[in-house]
Amino acid sequence: MINPIGSDTLLPLFVYDVDEHHALTKEAESLPSVTITSPAAGNAVMLGGGYFTPLKGFMNVADAMGAAEKMILTDGSFFPVPVMNLVDDEAIAAIGDAKRIALRDPNVEGNPVLAVMDVENIEKVSEDQMAVMRDKVYRTDDPEHPGVAAFMGQGRNAISGPIKVLNFSYFQTDFPDTFRTAVEIRNEIKEHGWNTVVAFQTRNPMHRAHEELCHMAMKDVNADGVVIHMLLGKLKPGDIPAPVRDAAIRKMAELYFPPNTVMITGYGFDMLYAGPREAVLHAYFRQNMGATHFIVGRDHAGVGDYYGDFDAQTIFDEEVPAGAMQIEIYKADHTAYSTKLNKVIMMRDAPEGHTKEDFVLLSGTKVREMLGRGEAPPPEFSRPEVAKILMDYYQSLDK
Ligand code: ADX
Repeated sequence: MINPIGSDTLLPLFVYDVDEHHALTKEAESLPSVTITSPAAGNAVMLGGGYFTPLKGFMNVADAMGAAEKMILTDGSFFPVPVMNLVDDEAIAAIGDAKRIALRDPNVEGNPVLAVMDVENIEKVSEDQMAVMRDKVYRTDDPEHPGVAAFMGQGRNAISGPIKVLNFSYFQTDFPDTFRTAVEIRNEIKEHGWNTVVAFQTRNPMHRAHEELCHMAMKDVNADGVVIHMLLGKLKPGDIPAPVRDAAIRKMAELYFPPNTVMITGYGFDMLYAGPREAVLHAYFRQNMGATHFIVGRDHAGVGDYYGDFDAQTIFDEEVPAGAMQIEIYKADHTAYSTKLNKVIMMRDAPEGHTKEDFVLLSGTKVREMLGRGEAPPPEFSRPEVAKILMDYYQSLDK
């Protein structure tokens, strides 16, 4: 099986030992604590599940700057984005000079303890440093960009050091059938006996193009299975909520994939909308969960017009340090239904003479409008069973 990055084995920071878990939970009650930000909580959940192996906790400023600028940390290891615990001055005053603190979950009622942290360092992050990280990771300084807004909306103090994770926030309770750690996905891949495994990232319900991308990738790399791995964390307003997406994807897989070739799973992390840089992070944690191939299509992890259609593919050739990852990137062209060929194809595979008019192309906005009116998009675009789930959702919004 493909190795995790920078380690022979996965290093999940969740405390699996029952006695240690019990002792830490008890200790946490009397520790000074901070309620962390939602992006930091997402980081803790990913660290807990082994997705960010071999990281041991939250980065200090030098490592975070290295990750942002070159994807290289101070010890020379590779990581594609800063993994920071940024808090405000009030939080710093509350913990004083404590060397061990509890991190509370902002996304669960009552803010229960999510993790225990050994404080190695508390550093002020300057506006210049924040700007460098923002520009490098998001490639824009626009405060309207949802990822930029979430990043810049955090405090300017970085608490760094190793953590131990006590639970998986609301992801395990709200999505028991879908949320998986990297440890669990590796184990399931092993149980299936799969060797070649394609991973598919999504934050959307899967339409025909998404479905066909999985089929095409599986065929081209001769894969044993595909792991559909959906984001379960926070999205921008207007994106389809995770439970609806989950139901739509499950229906599609049940009806249109051969049995035992697909795993429907999800991970607990807020969407960064960082396009190319997020694609590299996506590939990173898909290798850690045991996938050998990762699909990156058109405008992967993008939002609005911030990124070029294929920037999330070229970054792997132009910016990712050579040899940093073993997972192979399956680079997909714009994919749509051809009315000439009566099937979904990648545009680069279209025979000569094919024009844009020969494809069924609908914008996200157009599809949302149709669904909102209770009108199913054409079956060339969306499976009718999937469209039904989405129409029901949009119509429930109106009521
Ligand atoms: S993402 O933000 O999670 O990337 P989405 O769920 O829409 O958004 O896309 C999942 C994956 O499918 C990404 O790799 C994306 O590039 C790819 N993709 C979606 N639609 C198409 C399409 N029509 N043609 C090619 N690739 C696509």
